[in-house]
Amino acid sequence: MLVLCVETTCDETAAAIVDDAYQVRASVVASQHELHERFGGVVPELASRAHLERLLPVIDEALRQAGVVLAEIDAIAVANTPGLAGSLLVGLSAAKALAVAVDKPLATVNHVEAHIFACRIAAGRDIFPCIGLVASGGHTSLYEVRDPLDFRRLGGTLDDAAGEAFDKVASLLGLAYPGGPAIAAAAEGGNPRAYQLPRSFRGDPTRLDFSFSGLKTAVRYLLHPPSGPPRPALSPRELADLAASFQEAVVDVLVEKSLAALTQTGLSRLAVGGGVAANARLRERLAAETAAAGAQLLLAPLELSTDNAVMGALAIERLRAGLAAPLDAEVAPTLRLPRRAD
Ligand code: KG4
Ligand code: ZN
Repeated sequence: MLVLCVETTCDETAAAIVDDAYQVRASVVASQHELHERFGGVVPELASRAHLERLLPVIDEALRQAGVVLAEIDAIAVANTPGLAGSLLVGLSAAKALAVAVDKPLATVNHVEAHIFACRIAAGRDIFPCIGLVASGGHTSLYEVRDPLDFRRLGGTLDDAAGEAFDKVASLLGLAYPGGPAIAAAAEGGNPRAYQLPRSFRGDPTRLDFSFSGLKTAVRYLLHPPSGPPRPALSPRELADLAASFQEAVVDVLVEKSLAALTQTGLSRLAVGGGVAANARLRERLAAETAAAGAQLLLAPLELSTDNAVMGALAIERLRAGLAAPLDAEVAPTLRLPRRAD
């Protein structure tokens, strides 16, 4: 079975062709970063218009790379939740049209669940049950994942997502968008203990929530004190130290809460997905601390951690379970997943 997967939830237009052994036959990602960079964040209307222009060429390129024609595709998969409403609509409408054109089933996937499923694809074997940490530009949550179709939310951010904090702090520091890679680069050689920054809900292993807005405000006040004389511009060393201190504060809470989720559930595998999972310091700390705790860490390579269409192969699990989507399926911009207690 060959599945054509479509991803347009935010600012990457992507298509992939994956078979039912989870072998990736083609993966194409057209990033819109250059369109949004000067605004310091994604502009929803620009994003949906760019998806509209780019999606069919991106799908054509995926078919070309895989060496197949549309008629050889057995199902069409698309992420229909969560994301920007206009962007989701472009992907879903295209996927429906293709499913009708080739008379093959449509399957919808949840983008956040798909981020965790990227670890399954990368592992090349079953990874469930596991704890899933999704840290992206729009979401930062922990899940108990019993199987690929059973995600229970254990906790998550009460305000900004981790990636959003990277993006906003990068903008405060005058660094490029997206902020994650820019802060990681600026932090190289910096002292992660140079600045004391807040770490929310730390030290309470029963609370699996995050909050990053206080951290962002702390950086703002360091740069622009609310009272007293304005602060002189940061020296290159101070910039490296502040970027490293900020990154360490985010990494500290992501690692601590992930390990607490393993302890709380008795599970021994941790899968980490979403753009922030591409962060080298996070990967290094997770590797060391899961090993020390006797747990197994599952990370996808960088190109499967940030937004991509390959992870939409989660649709194969849905199709196997008889969960094809109807042709009147809708987009759901807001994430809806049951909590663990539900
Ligand atoms: O998963 P993703 O590609 O898109 C969403 O679903 O949001 O995540 C994008 C987020 C952005 O906020 C970006 O700054 C962050 O992931 N990111 C990183 C790194 N690479 C991307 N954050 C920290 N370190 C990185 N190396
Ligand atoms: Zn994402």
